[in-house]
Amino acid sequence: MTYAAVRAHTNIALIKYWGKRDEEFFLPMNSSLSLTLEKLYTDTFVQFDEELTEDLFILNGKKQSEKETGKITRFLDLFRAQAGVSYRARVASINHVPTAAGLASSASAFAALAGAANIASGLNVDLRTLSTYARQGSGSATRSIYGGFVEWNKGTSSEDSFAIPIDEADWDIGMVIIAVNRSEKKVSSREGMKQTVETSPYYPAWVATAEDDLSVIKDAIKERNFEKMGEMAEHSAMKMHASMLAAKPPILYFEPASITAIQAVQKLREQGISCYVTMDAGPNVKVLCRLSQAGLIKEKLKDFFKEEQLLITGPGKGIRELTEDE
Ligand code: PMV
Repeated sequence: MTYAAVRAHTNIALIKYWGKRDEEFFLPMNSSLSLTLEKLYTDTFVQFDEELTEDLFILNGKKQSEKETGKITRFLDLFRAQAGVSYRARVASINHVPTAAGLASSASAFAALAGAANIASGLNVDLRTLSTYARQGSGSATRSIYGGFVEWNKGTSSEDSFAIPIDEADWDIGMVIIAVNRSEKKVSSREGMKQTVETSPYYPAWVATAEDDLSVIKDAIKERNFEKMGEMAEHSAMKMHASMLAAKPPILYFEPASITAIQAVQKLREQGISCYVTMDAGPNVKVLCRLSQAGLIKEKLKDFFKEEQLLITGPGKGIRELTEDE
């Protein structure tokens, strides 16, 4: 097989990954845990072709620049080296991330690319090993190999820093995504992490507490204790942002509308609706909730946000190969 197409869904971390201990191999300072999402995914086709003289990368129907294609080339080289393939590749990706979501899609993008390159190159490693490849495209992509709740074990080396599926999330779990701002983030997660690790006096506290936070959330998931899980997820996100705010210069991803969203969620809780916020390296707010209450929460959030800024999603599945007619 010299070609394949694979779908991967994006994920949102409930225990965040923030900070690398190895920049080259994307080894994280702490283990993390996420929820894969149904509504946001990337489909990627990879074909190795002896006729090609360079890699080609087409995203949403548009040929990409040398710089963007270069990232793909470096990533495909991992597969070429292991599989003994020297051919260049044609890569075509479609991001099914509703524009309103305003979310970066590197997690689903590199997980889908890894999945398709794995089959097309004939390497065919197992999913666990594949997650170590995805990791080297984007840390969060490690977790998008699997569906439901997924742990990324920080490991001790490139070989054992992989993802582990924890729970299929086939219970009453969902998210309402609030798109606060759709523009490109000002500080990339790579730069933001580096600056925090190097300059924030709060960063050691982040690392020192991350493993305990992970074990609390894993217990909560096992017990299906939604409140315990949500409280810990919100705490992890706020603690990550606190460590960034203490960096020099400070890293501030919040916008006024992010605060509006956080306060709206606090108010919903006062009204007895169980929901919690999480935020990543950008101003958008994700509300972790019971999927059965997501419609009600969306209605309440319409007091502050437009319909097109709000997206409901349930848990998503792991990567899968697409058939010819998909
Ligand atoms: O792997 P990256 O570069 O997309 O970084 C992800 C960083 C966070 O989204 C903030 C946290 C996480 O664990 O996904």
